[in-house]
Amino acid sequence: MKNKWCLFVVFYVSFHACLCAETLRLVNLVYRHGDRSPIEIFPKDVNQIEKWPQGLGWLSKIGMKQHYALGQLLKTRYIDSGFMKAEYSRYEISIESSDEDRCLMSAYSNLAGMYPPDDDQKFNHDIPWQPIPVHTRPAYEDNMFYQYLGNVSGWDHENISNIWRIADTLYCEKSHNLTVNTWADQKWNNTQTVFEKLRKLENFQFTLLYNGSEMSMLKGGCAFDCPFDQFVKLTKDAVPTDWKRQCGYPEPKGKSGSSGLSTGWIVSIGLTGLLVVVLVVGITCVVKEQRKHANMPYGRFDVSS
Ligand SMILES: *[C@@H]1O[C@H](CO)[C@@H](O)[C@H](O)[C@H]1NC(C)=O
Ligand SMILES: *[C@@H]1O[C@H](CO)[C@@H](O)[C@H](O)[C@H]1NC(C)=O
Ligand SMILES: *[C@@H]1O[C@H](CO)[C@@H](O)[C@H](O)[C@H]1NC(C)=O
Ligand SMILES: *[C@@H]1O[C@H](CO)[C@@H](O)[C@H](O)[C@H]1NC(C)=O
Ligand SMILES: *[C@@H]1O[C@H](CO)[C@@H](O)[C@H](O)[C@H]1NC(C)=O
Repeated sequence: MKNKWCLFVVFYVSFHACLCAETLRLVNLVYRHGDRSPIEIFPKDVNQIEKWPQGLGWLSKIGMKQHYALGQLLKTRYIDSGFMKAEYSRYEISIESSDEDRCLMSAYSNLAGMYPPDDDQKFNHDIPWQPIPVHTRPAYEDNMFYQYLGNVSGWDHENISNIWRIADTLYCEKSHNLTVNTWADQKWNNTQTVFEKLRKLENFQFTLLYNGSEMSMLKGGCAFDCPFDQFVKLTKDAVPTDWKRQCGYPEPKGKSGSSGLSTGWIVSIGLTGLLVVVLVVGITCVVKEQRKHANMPYGRFDVSS
């Protein structure tokens, strides 16, 4: 058929094949200490403290072995797989522990399993172990402040999740020139007042809450307090400028300075126009075919081309 080019079929295929393989970048591991002696013994217990050579709350030899084994497992998973170097490198790994003997000891046992030194790293050839730093902060800093807050505020069980309530109350009271709770302005460890420490912890809480995944973009670039300008800059991509339009609200009618046509409408009209053109061309082709073969009874069934 001569008119076989009459009709065009256009397939617009768009695909976004993302072949980017996901790769491991960072690992955060959190674990507890190993097997230990009890923290307390009730007075009439048949096993009194002498049954525990190192006293209460102490990591046992079983606990050490458990953590040594866990260290070996971590070595298989992250070192033997090539994710990390076999030699300990302070640029690759950082270890933190609570300031409890059993936790620190667990961390050291774990690292003994994870980083057995090669001959080069041994400082004594008879000792298959190398010292690896474990960071900690005094238990005092961990808990004492919360206990203190419980004492002065009368709200028990203060923790990082609910500490904002005290900070917030003090802040509002201060802003409204109400009587100051004397303890709020007292020094906490000579570096800052109780109120200042509270405000820092309050901010830290929100950092913990919102420092993950997509929310991290809101945070990036701000340390603790985020100045308003910086906040606006950081949230520019995440905050819609015209939320009504993005949420699909209809355009208000007769809005001055606007034609009343949204992009969606323009695209729809354009597509409809295109379809009409294709249809008209198609019909024209068919009509021409019919006229051409009008005198050939079987022409219409010609499928040779
Ligand atoms: C809180 O009060 C209790 C009981 O009065 C006391 O034993 C404890 O030392 C106080 N803690 C702090 C941090 O002030
Ligand atoms: C903080 O304390 C509240 C009780 O006031 C409790 O419900 C919550 O689980 C605690 N959060 C943490 C992280 O300990
Ligand atoms: C609190 O006091 C300050 C300084 O005296 C004043 O500028 C401010 O308006 C007061 N705030 C309120 C809420 O009364
Ligand atoms: C400051 O912290 C130390 C422990 O790091 C503690 O012994 C001391 O009592 C604290 N001082 C105040 C004023 O809270
Ligand atoms: C929050 O995340 C950023 C990176 O996204 C990081 O640099 C920062 O140390 C994190 N802050 C806290 C408190 O975890």
